[in-house]
Amino acid sequence: MNTSPQFPSAASTTVGTTLEEHIMAGQRGSPGATGDFTSLLSSVSLAVRIIHSRVRAAGLAGMLGYTGHTNVQGEAVQKLDMFANEVLCTVFERSSHCAVIGSEELDELKLSDPMGRYVVLFDPLDGSSNIDVNISIGTIFAMLRVPQGSDPADIAASLQPGRLIAAAGYAVYGSATTFVLTTGHGVHCFTLDPNIGEFFLSHPNMRCPDTGSIYSINEGNSCRWAPPVKRWNEWIKTEDKATGRPYDHRYVGSLVGDAHRTMMKGGIFAYPPDSKNPKGKLRLLYEANPMAFLFEQASGAATNGIDRILDIQPTDVHQRTPLVLGSRNDVATFRQFMLGER
Ligand code: AHG
Ligand code: MN
Ligand code: MN
Repeated sequence: MNTSPQFPSAASTTVGTTLEEHIMAGQRGSPGATGDFTSLLSSVSLAVRIIHSRVRAAGLAGMLGYTGHTNVQGEAVQKLDMFANEVLCTVFERSSHCAVIGSEELDELKLSDPMGRYVVLFDPLDGSSNIDVNISIGTIFAMLRVPQGSDPADIAASLQPGRLIAAAGYAVYGSATTFVLTTGHGVHCFTLDPNIGEFFLSHPNMRCPDTGSIYSINEGNSCRWAPPVKRWNEWIKTEDKATGRPYDHRYVGSLVGDAHRTMMKGGIFAYPPDSKNPKGKLRLLYEANPMAFLFEQASGAATNGIDRILDIQPTDVHQRTPLVLGSRNDVATFRQFMLGER
């Protein structure tokens, strides 16, 4: 049974707590840990730092713009999408602990090391439409164990519900590069010191406020929403001091940016189904599930509007889902509208 690791505090010392120290503390707190998990998390840290360096100079390194290809999602692939995907695939393949790789930019799941005990699923570059306009973009990942006795080549080993996630996180390449991680023992945020290439613990034990004052949704889709979503949208914009309404509206169009703000300040992010995306736009395995796991670890909530995201049984690597995440009370209110209770 995992005891709760005793993570080093972010106490003000001359030298802060590094991401590696935090990961190692987690290993020490997990009886029977073999170090495989620790090694995989270190691989993610390396990949994020490499992507960070390329993003920072993308405009100078000819890394802006499109490759001319479209991915399995039917979306135009940007040069940074492919670069980030190649970096993540390389570090995971070299780790020898990864049995299966799933990526937004890979048509199919990719078998890696037959002795590996983990499945890694990732969105290598989230917010691609914002690359050329210098708005925050990111990387999102989830790690799951290959179920005991199952064959990694069996797709079922990768199509596990999100509640079985072992680790999840995201990087935001914004005004600073931050790395938000959970291994099931709370959510901790690290900030990159670009001068030394090291992540330092900056926000230990992140907690999403129970209620917020910001809502985040693409209002441009409002004509395509179902009536309950339209009613919720009108409700949240109606003046009512007792319930802190109207909420402020913020939407940057990168899930990592909108989710990170919601994690820090509270409120609600919603990408509901609409007539253009009847199953929702966001992908379950490498966008919704990791974010849902993180928000629940931070006392927040994540649903498809009604049901818990982490209980959804996946049927396809790239399946889409509606996603509503954020402060538990705001997500619950949205659910009441969807159920016709408001
Ligand atoms: P990606 O760049 O990985 O395809 O993800 C884009 C997603 C997500 O980041 C964001 O929340 C959403 O697309 C924005 O969609 P709209 O532009 O339709 O609002
Ligand atoms: Mn994405
Ligand atoms: Mn992407």
